[in-house]
Amino acid sequence: MRAPPRNIVVLTGSGISAESGVATFRDKDGIWAKVDYREVATPEGFAANPALVHEFYNDRRRALPGVEPNAAHRALAELERGLEERDGRLTLVTQNVDDLHERAGSANLLHMHGEIQKATCVACGDVRDCRADLSIETACPACDRAGGVRPYVVWFGEMPRFMGETMEAITDADLFVSIGTSGSVYPAAGFVAEARALGIAATELNLEPSENAHHFTDSRYGPATKIVSEWVRELLGGSQPTG
Ligand code: APR
Repeated sequence: MRAPPRNIVVLTGSGISAESGVATFRDKDGIWAKVDYREVATPEGFAANPALVHEFYNDRRRALPGVEPNAAHRALAELERGLEERDGRLTLVTQNVDDLHERAGSANLLHMHGEIQKATCVACGDVRDCRADLSIETACPACDRAGGVRPYVVWFGEMPRFMGETMEAITDADLFVSIGTSGSVYPAAGFVAEARALGIAATELNLEPSENAHHFTDSRYGPATKIVSEWVRELLGGSQPTG
């Protein structure tokens, strides 16, 4: 019987937060069905109409305190603890800008598309927590200049964060798992091919087959709160702690 995986990399997308009431992007009633991403999620959009971009992120930031982590977020936090007890490691790479993984207890977490509850200043590069609305009048707390404070979110055309750490974690992994993502935005959508090229097993846990479903060696489909919890229970239940 194969030893259970000890070093796992999990990539999550908006689908893991869907059952918490956070909208996804490309489902039929998703965010991009209502808003043109070029106007609110690109540097060009911010330059053209910063007030519209602030309104878009202010609305999403204001909604966060009203939503809770769900069973899938909690299952991943439990998996992180369970793997550590077995001298293993879970690296959680999320495309999501919400804080639901943190609030569920995940610690080894990389927000490759940034975080909506942080802001950065284009003038001085300052980055700090931000729970309040932003506007073109917001002055940077570090350099005091106004007009350049923006959400600490990676827009289309910008470089995602933690790429080095992510590729290092994938290289060391026994298993790569993708949860709640359509596999339509790179470089995140390319992680599974990197893992497979290294001979690493790959599992997809999603509501339906994603655009790169063919890369995966195992897949389970259904709502994340059901299939992620079941998968973690099997993974932790099936292996004995070391030592
Ligand atoms: N359980 C599991 N999966 C779900 C659920 C659910 N309850 N609801 C939806 N899904 C799946 C959908 O089937 C879809 O495959 O989650 C995926 C969501 O895909 P997208 O809406 O494209 O979101 P995501 O993959 O996270 O988008 C990636 O694109 O717009 C950018 O920066 C944005 O980080 C985002 C990136």
